[in-house]
Amino acid sequence: MSDAPEDFFADEELSPVSIDPNAPHLVVAGSLNIDYVMRVGRLPNPGETIAAAEMVTNFGGKGANQAVAAARQEIEVTLIGSLGDDEMARPYRTRLENEGINVDLIKNQPGIRSGSAFIAVDDEGENTIIVSPGANAITSVDEIHHAEAAIQKADALLAQFEIPISTIVEAVNAANLADVTVILNPSPIRTTFPWSEIQSDYVIVNESEAIELLDFLPGQIRDLPMVRQQLDEFNIGTLVITRGSDPTLVYPEFEDPFEVPTMAVLPIDTVGAGDAFAGCFASQIARGVDLRDAVRSANVAGALTTLGAGAQSPIPDLDQVEQHVQQFP
Ligand code: RIB
Repeated sequence: MSDAPEDFFADEELSPVSIDPNAPHLVVAGSLNIDYVMRVGRLPNPGETIAAAEMVTNFGGKGANQAVAAARQEIEVTLIGSLGDDEMARPYRTRLENEGINVDLIKNQPGIRSGSAFIAVDDEGENTIIVSPGANAITSVDEIHHAEAAIQKADALLAQFEIPISTIVEAVNAANLADVTVILNPSPIRTTFPWSEIQSDYVIVNESEAIELLDFLPGQIRDLPMVRQQLDEFNIGTLVITRGSDPTLVYPEFEDPFEVPTMAVLPIDTVGAGDAFAGCFASQIARGVDLRDAVRSANVAGALTTLGAGAQSPIPDLDQVEQHVQQFP
């Protein structure tokens, strides 16, 4: 079986997507990984060895997945990040370009491999992921300095936690100074992140990340005064908690909390569903869409992404999201 990504050989056949330069602009600061995905009947227990039915290699990384999700909603997207000097770097850059993403701020880091993610997906579509950061770990504040002009003229900045904390903070500071909307998806959660030193307008987490982030017990996540107090301490405006097939919980900055139902699906592969949610949500916010509608579209994008294998291939485009949002009010 080939080790090349699923569409490694298809790059030349893809025609570049043309993006309207007057479209809303999102800057994403984040990771790019090569995903090595093993399909297993069930996830292994600690100390256990199991055989995979198959192994495929895909393009992934939370930053790139979210950039793809946003670009498929037909907004202008610039990705800040790093690739290594391995054989996967060039095809990955071409692939992102063909998605219509501006790749000028993706650095080729010499002497290091691109990030890798080792993923097991079971029969229910659940997954476990181990990431070797590679070039993502040396995405530095210098990269953000090069990107300052792009951040300043963006409608929103979106970042996750797979690149160094100092780099994320620098990007958020640049956005805060220019009054650009900041959307953070602090995944994977890192307890050392200096929340009180920056201002974030929207934070997207899943339920277990929410409990870790706010240092709460599971039952306390619906205790509004406690949640609001913690959000204020962390300078977080609106908190969005995704909960798989359960309704998404939203704690807006100036309104009462509300829930937005998700679309019922039978998942095949949940890898990248959270990224599809975050990228679609950010595209809606960059467009100036109302919060409830932004979550509705993002719920649809996340659900549809679970219906295909791989992190990026099944992410829906604008037409697919709009069609399903209409059928699923
Ligand atoms: O969120 C899914 C992503 O997490 C995968 O693509 C993998 O690369 C890891 O970063």
